[in-house]
This record gives sequence, C-alpha cells and structure tokens, in this order.
Amino acid sequence: HLKDSEGYGKLGDSVNDYRAVTKKELSTLESSTINLKHAAHGMIFAKKSNLLWNLYDQKGLVMMQVRFDGLLGFPGGLVDDGEKAVDGINREMHEEIGLDLHKYSFTEDHHIACYYQEMKKMILHFYLMEVSPEDFATLEQKTLSAEEYGIETCGIVRVPLFTMGDGVRGFPAFLANQFAGNARAELIHGLLEAKLFSESEMETALKAYKDYAE
Ligand code: GTP
Ligand code: MN
Ligand code: MN
Ligand code: MN
Ligand code: MN
Repeated sequence: HLKDSEGYGKLGDSVNDYRAVTKKELSTLESSTINLKHAAHGMIFAKKSNLLWNLYDQKGLVMMQVRFDGLLGFPGGLVDDGEKAVDGINREMHEEIGLDLHKYSFTEDHHIACYYQEMKKMILHFYLMEVSPEDFATLEQKTLSAEEYGIETCGIVRVPLFTMGDGVRGFPAFLANQFAGNARAELIHGLLEAKLFSESEMETALKAYKDYAE
C-alpha cells in the first residue's frame, strides 16, 4: 500500500532500483558490504493552509531544489568517510542552502527512512523537519547566500501541493519532472509522513500523474 515506500521510485522511472531498508537490515548491510556509501537528504516543510487565487488549497510549504545536474532533489549529499549521516546532512544543508545550524539542525528524530541502491552500494538516508511558515520563508531567503548557491544549488523551489481544474497541473505535473536518486519516492513518503496529504489524496494525485505521464 501507499505507506510501503517500496515501489514509489518505479513510477515512470525504470532505472530506479532503490528499496526501503529497515534499521535492522541497515546494520546487516553495514557489516557485510565493503565500500558501502551513505548519502543524506532532507525535506524541510511548514504547515500552512492557504487558499491560492481563492481556489486551490495549498496545505503547506515544501522545499526542494533544482540541482547542478538539472534534476530536482532535496538538499543534502554524500556523507564523508567517518562522518555520521546526521552530521553529513547538517553539513550539506549548510553548504547547499545556508541552513543556520545553531537554530535548525537535524537530529536522529528527523530520520524517517533509509533506501538502498544496490548497484551504487549506497544507503540513502531521508530526514524530515518541520518549521514554522515564517521560518520557512526566512530559510528560503537565506539560500541565496549559501556557499553552494549557483554551483550545486541552482535554485530553491516550493513544491505545488494542489491540483488544478484540469486534474493534472500542479502536484501531479510536478511529479513528471526528473528527480535525482529516489527523491520522487521521498517526496511522496515525506508528504504522507508530514500529513500534508492523506493516503486517498495521494492515490488520486498519483493516478492523475500516471494518466498524464504514461
Ligand atoms: P558533491 O559534493 O558534488 O559530491 O554532491 P553532494 O555531496 O551534495 O551529493 P548529492 O546531493 O549529489 O547526492 C549524492 C547521491 O544521492 C547521488 O547519487 C544522487 O543521485 C543522490 N541524490 C541526490 N539528491 C537526492 C535526493 O533528494 N534524494 C535521494 N535519496 N538521493 C539523492
Ligand atoms: Mn552538496
Ligand atoms: Mn547535494
Ligand atoms: Mn558533498
Ligand atoms: Mn560538494
């Protein structure tokens, strides 16, 4: 079912072979895999009900980025050797979006999922952090002065979280973009976990996306 994040990455994306792994599987992989690499990315969001153009209910704000490679993804990156995933995500968040780590830092409590990419031997850690709508706007402004702005980060985007009258434009059409890694699956997972979408709302949006893209 939708809660089972396995399979999300396959939506129109046959190159993906990411699978969700539990904490237990992770420790097995860590002890049995040579040269296992880790990456950590995060979704920063705020809850805010906002009726756009008096028409579409935008329930929240979700931050993604246009990356240097032209793909959409979450801020974050490769975890250095000897670095903990949580330290890696904080370092990358500072580099890519200028996150003030004294005020906002990711902790283990923000970790919501791990995925494994067998071919790359890479574990992808995914984190979710809620901030207030006001703080979200401030964080967005600060991205322009991040170290990596204009290099790894080509621009911060808000994900459209509504569907327009034609049933496709808005969130379903956004899903038809090209995403890095399994960022599309993470977006879907994160939106459900953050309760910005109910399961049935997500099912409707995914069906609209599939009808449009396939
Ligand atoms: P460099 O400093 O240039 O190495 O980049 P980085 O450390 O910022 O790494 P990057 O963010 O490109 O992520 C490393 C790996 O994670 C790549 O294999 C990407 O395909 C994958 N990746 C990129 N963005 C995302 C994302 O949003 N979610 C997930 N799960 N993986 C991603
Ligand atoms: Mn980076
Ligand atoms: Mn990155
Ligand atoms: Mn990096
Ligand atoms: Mn870098």
